[in-house]
Amino acid sequence: MPNLETRYLGLSLRSPLIASSSPLTGSLARIREMEAAGIGAVVLPSLFEEQILREEMAEHAQQDYGGTLEGFSKLEEFRFSARAYLDHIRALKSSVGIPVIASLNGASSGWWTRYAKMLEEAGADALELNIYSVPTDPDKAGAEIEMELLDIVRLVRAQIRIPLAVKLSAFYTNIAHLAKRLQAAGIQGAVFFNRFYQPDIDVERLTLRSGLLPGSSRDVRVPLTWIGILYGRVGIDLAATGGIMEAADAIKVILAGAQAAMLCSVLLEHGVASVGRLLEQIAQWMRRHGYESIEQWRGLLSQKNCADPESFERAQYVAAVGGGSA
Ligand SMILES: Cc1cc2nc3c(=O)[nH]c(=O)nc-3n(C[C@H](O)[C@H](O)[C@H](O)COP(=O)(O)O)c2cc1C
Repeated sequence: MPNLETRYLGLSLRSPLIASSSPLTGSLARIREMEAAGIGAVVLPSLFEEQILREEMAEHAQQDYGGTLEGFSKLEEFRFSARAYLDHIRALKSSVGIPVIASLNGASSGWWTRYAKMLEEAGADALELNIYSVPTDPDKAGAEIEMELLDIVRLVRAQIRIPLAVKLSAFYTNIAHLAKRLQAAGIQGAVFFNRFYQPDIDVERLTLRSGLLPGSSRDVRVPLTWIGILYGRVGIDLAATGGIMEAADAIKVILAGAQAAMLCSVLLEHGVASVGRLLEQIAQWMRRHGYESIEQWRGLLSQKNCADPESFERAQYVAAVGGGSA
C-alpha cells in the first residue's frame, strides 16, 4: 500500500482526504466511521455569527426581562448551540485520533470572533474561517471588501495559537494577491472555494427557489485552476473543496498542488463508505504510476512545474475557443 500521509496546516494527516464542513461532521458516529475508513481530518459544521448573536441576545433577554423570546423563535432551527458545539469538540477529542478543525462562519468584523478562543480551548486542532458575505452595495469597492476580510483574519489570529485557514470565495479580483496578504495576516492555509448560495427561479410560479445543488466533478476545475496557479508561489497550504466526487478529482487537485482534497457532496450522496473507496482508488492509481508517497507527485502539474504553464492562462483560452494558434 503506498503511503498516503500528508501534512495540512502543520498537522499530520493519514490521508489527503478531509471531510469538509457539513451536517455530517456534526455526528460523532459518522466521524468515527470516517476515521475507520481512513479520512485524514474533519472540518466541523460552521458555528455561525448569526447563531451566536441570537443565542447571546436570547440569554440577555431571559436574564434581563425573564420574558418569552419573541423574535428568536428560530433559535432551535440552528444545528448547534455554541455550547453544544464546544461539547462536540470535547467529545471528539476524547474519542477520535484524527485532527478536528472547527469552523466559524461570519461576515462582520466584531465581537463574535472571540469564539475562536473558546474553540481552541475546547481542543480544536485548527480553525477554518468562512467569511461569507455577498456584496450587494454598488458603492463598496473590492479593496474595501478585502480589507474587511483581512481585518477579521487579523482579529482571530491575534486570539489563537492553533493553525488558521480561510475558506475563500472564488469571486475576488486577484486571488493570488489576496492569498499573499492573507499569508502576511498569519494564516497557514486556504480552502478553495466557498460555495455561495445561489437562488434559482421557478418560471411557472414566478418565485425564487432555494436549495443547494449537489456538487459535480465539473466544479473541480475552479479550485484546480487556482491551486495550480498558487502552488509554489505562496507560503500557505492549499486545500480544494467543490466537486470532489471521484478519486480522479482528488488526484487532479493534488497534481495541481493541493495538500488536501475535501469531500462533502460525495459523502452526503453516497455515504461515508466513499472514503475507503476513494482512498483505495488513489492508492491503485499511485501503484500504477509507480509512486510511493504523495509528496512525489504533489504539484507535478501546477503552473510552476508543468511543461506548458500557459495552460493556466489566456493563451490556452484563446486556443480553446479557436481564436488563434497558441
Ligand atoms: C448541506 C451542506 C451544509 C454545508 N454547511 C457548511 C458549513 O456550515 N460551513 C462551510 O464552510 N461549508 C458548508 N458547506 C459547504 C461544503 O463544506 C463544501 O465546501 C461545498 O459543499 C462544496 O463541496 P462539494 O461539491 O463536495 O459539496 C455545506 C455544504 C452542504 C451541502
